[in-house]
Amino acid sequence: MKAINIGICGLGTVGAGVVNVMQRNVASIAARAGREILITHIGARRDNPACDLGSTKISRDIFAVVNDPDVDIVVELIGGYEPALELVMQAIANGKHVVTANKALIAMHGNEIFAAADARGVSVLFEAAVAGGIPIIKAIREGLAANSIEWLAGIINGTGNYILTEMRDKGRQFDDVLVDAQQLGYAEADPTFDVEGIDAAHKLVILASLAFGMPLNFDACFTEGISAIAPQDVIFAGELGYRIKHLGIARKVEQGVEMRVHPTLIPQRRLIANVDGVMNAVLVKGDAVGPTLYYGAGAGAEPTASSVIADIVDVVRGIDAEPINRVPTLGVAQQALSTLPTLSISDINTAYYLRINVSDQPGVLSHVTQILSDAGISIEAVLQKEVVQQGVQSEQASRQVPIVLITSQTLESQFMAAVKNIEALDVVQESVHFIRVESLG
Ligand code: HSE
Repeated sequence: MKAINIGICGLGTVGAGVVNVMQRNVASIAARAGREILITHIGARRDNPACDLGSTKISRDIFAVVNDPDVDIVVELIGGYEPALELVMQAIANGKHVVTANKALIAMHGNEIFAAADARGVSVLFEAAVAGGIPIIKAIREGLAANSIEWLAGIINGTGNYILTEMRDKGRQFDDVLVDAQQLGYAEADPTFDVEGIDAAHKLVILASLAFGMPLNFDACFTEGISAIAPQDVIFAGELGYRIKHLGIARKVEQGVEMRVHPTLIPQRRLIANVDGVMNAVLVKGDAVGPTLYYGAGAGAEPTASSVIADIVDVVRGIDAEPINRVPTLGVAQQALSTLPTLSISDINTAYYLRINVSDQPGVLSHVTQILSDAGISIEAVLQKEVVQQGVQSEQASRQVPIVLITSQTLESQFMAAVKNIEALDVVQESVHFIRVESLG
């Protein structure tokens, strides 16, 4: 049987990882794919000493790879929107299958890429785009095919998870830990993508489309980062039995689909609450299987290569099949994609952690609880701390003390109206800090 030729575009950390793992495990990969797989052409601006390319053809122009008639599968590892989009569209137009690790590209342009691939009868696979080495896309698309998926929640940004873990374990400040995280090499080229949740939103949108069989819709994803998390919130959450994690949550409710990325308090007894450092995990709840948890490295050369090569093997296995007989890109055929509406954040139902800094005066707590009660919001837990500002013993009336509350589930728009009323109290001189709470039960 003819060997399948791979062209790789991009020879950074992941590209070198793919070359190394392919070389190391060449025989077992061929056995699994059912035929020989050869890397025959690499497009890269420069060589990478992390791998040995032997006599593999190298081009400085990545488009030479997609225009190479001998290449069967193009592996796009350059990242970003352009020229990645042009490269992938050109590869498809040339009748080549595509494997990509590019989450931003799939989240933003997946619909047009998949439509073009369908029309041309080629596959586009992207396991490495979400949660690095964890085979979460295959799990949702194929392993859970029997289920109606109810919700999923994931720690899908290692940089953010590392920062929150260091803040909790070592009491460090956000800015200080961010510098470390960048040095670890996990952070995006623009680290605001990590800390403001954009990277996680790219990944969540992809997972939601697979889970609910719907087109990609990045604009419908609510995104909030972790830069406003204060060390005291991490401590108070712990005292209340919770951990703060930056979660991507997708949930099917009666009115449609929620897609949201934000810091979240989760009970510390949940397995996912104990996923620390740069590790990733995704919890998926199916109606038949119940909750399932997928854990592993969310980035790095070889974990990501593991997913890229798994996709290559999948393409090779189905390369001679009629396109109709291959696994559809989003788990269901293009014409069967659902038209579920997506909900705005003000329409979600969740519980909330609130930290309200108030003047230390009698009766303040009752004013706050009255506002919540008037809004129909019950309180599940209260913590009031005697904190003297900066250790200075000031007059009682001007002293600021935090009141910490956990509410029951409520509609976000109702909760926000109550927050506005709390902020209007004379004894409240700064914005209310709030974090959403999910039981993930
Ligand atoms: N910046 C990403 C992270 C890399 O920290 O998880 C993997 O997508």
